[in-house]
Amino acid sequence: MTPKKAKSPKQVLIRFGDMRVGKDSDRSKRTPTVRKVKGAIMPVDRFKAPAGRPRVETGGSAVADLGVPTAVRPTLAEQAALDKIDLSVDLAPEHGGLLLANPILVASGTFGYGVEYGEVVDVQRIGGICCKGTTLKPRAGNPPPRVTETPGGMLNSIGLQNPGVDAVIDKYGPIWRGWKVPVIVNVAGESIDDYVEVARRLDGVPGVAGIELNISCPNVGKGGLQFAIDRDAARAVTAAVRRATDLPLLVKLSPNVADVRPIAKAIEEAGADAICAINTLSGLAVSPDRTRAFLGNTYGGLSGPAIKPVALRIVYEVAQVVSIPIVAIGGVTSLDDVLDFLACGAVAVQVGTAIFADPELPVRLGDELRAECLRRGLASYKPLIGTALPKRTGAPSAKGAEYRP
Ligand SMILES: Cc1cc2nc3c(=O)[nH]c(=O)nc-3n(C[C@H](O)[C@H](O)[C@H](O)COP(=O)(O)O)c2cc1C
Repeated sequence: MTPKKAKSPKQVLIRFGDMRVGKDSDRSKRTPTVRKVKGAIMPVDRFKAPAGRPRVETGGSAVADLGVPTAVRPTLAEQAALDKIDLSVDLAPEHGGLLLANPILVASGTFGYGVEYGEVVDVQRIGGICCKGTTLKPRAGNPPPRVTETPGGMLNSIGLQNPGVDAVIDKYGPIWRGWKVPVIVNVAGESIDDYVEVARRLDGVPGVAGIELNISCPNVGKGGLQFAIDRDAARAVTAAVRRATDLPLLVKLSPNVADVRPIAKAIEEAGADAICAINTLSGLAVSPDRTRAFLGNTYGGLSGPAIKPVALRIVYEVAQVVSIPIVAIGGVTSLDDVLDFLACGAVAVQVGTAIFADPELPVRLGDELRAECLRRGLASYKPLIGTALPKRTGAPSAKGAEYRP
C-alpha cells in the first residue's frame, strides 16, 4: 500500500493492511494503531543533547549543535570532513560482497518493497532495504485483526501476506535494478524446498543484492516446529539455500529460544554470510471483552522499543561465538540505540517498527552516525563496534571486534 505524501514526516499516514499509523482525520475509525505508544517510538528530540553528548543535528547535511537549541548549517570545512567519514560496510565479503554505503538498513515487513516510501523518504540514502517477506506462492496473510499496540511496541500477525516470488521479481526487480541502495529480499517458506526454490528464482535477478532468510516459520515436514528454534533445521535450511545461490545470504535469528548461540553457530557453519538478530518475540493480546485472544491468528510478534534489551543481549551473546557480521534489529529509535548495538558487536542495524511513526528515521540515523564520528574524531564508524564485548584474547568474536581499539 502506498503511503500518502504529507507536508511533514509527522503528518504521514501509513497503512499496512488494517494497521494505520500517523495522523488521520477520522480518529474514530482507527483500528489498532501504534500511535498510542508514540512516546515509546517517537524519535528523540532532535535539538536536545543527551547527557554527556552535545547533539549533532544533521537534517540532510550536518549541523553541529553545541547545546544551542537552533540548527546551524555546517561550515564548508565541517561538511568536507563529514563527507570523508567512511560509513561503508560489506556484509558478505566471501560471496562477491554486499556493500552498503552506511550501516542503517530498514527491517523486513516495515518498509514494504521500498517503492511505497519513494515520495516521503529519499530511499537511496538508506544503507539497505530488507523487503517484505516473500514466499514461493502468493499468500493472503492471517485473518484480522493483525496488529495491536502494546506498551513500548506492537504485536503483529500479518502472516507473510505477499504476491509470491515471481510477482515480486516481475514488479519490483526492474525498479530495484535502477537503485543504488541494495535491496535484500526477505525469504520465508514452509519447507526447505520452498526456501531453495525461492532462492533459485532470485539468483541472478538484477536488482536483488542478497537474501535474508526468515527462518521463524513453521517447518511443515517437522510437525510445524519453527526452523529458527531447531538447530539442525536452521543448519539444514541455511546449507540448502547456500548451495542454491551465490547471492549474499543473511539468516535471521528468532529470540524465542532458550539459548540462541548453538543455532547461530550452526548457521555460520552452514555458510551464511551474516546473521540478523532478532525477529519478533512471540506474544499474545486479549480481546477487550476477554472472551478470546485479540489477534485473528491468536499469537503475534512483539516488536519496538520493548524488545531492545532482548535484542542487545542476543547480539552480545552471538557476537562472542561467531565471526561473520551481525546485523542488529530490535527497537531502534535513536542514535543511542544504534551505538548500543554497535558496542555489543553488530556491524549494522535495521530499523523496523519505529519507521511507522517516523519514515525518515533510517536516513536521519545515518546522518547522525556520521556526525557522531566527526565529533569523536573518527574517520570511520568501525572503532565503535564491539567496545562493550568482554575482551577475551583469542575468543571468537563478531567481525566488528577486530576493529576494537
Ligand atoms: C508489521 C511487521 C511485519 C514484519 N514482517 C516481517 C517479515 O515479513 N519477515 C521478517 O523476517 N521479519 C518481519 N518483521 C520483523 C522485523 O523485520 C523486525 O525483525 C522486528 O520488528 C524487530 O525490529 P523492530 O523492533 O525495530 O521493529 C515484521 C515486523 C513488523 C512490525
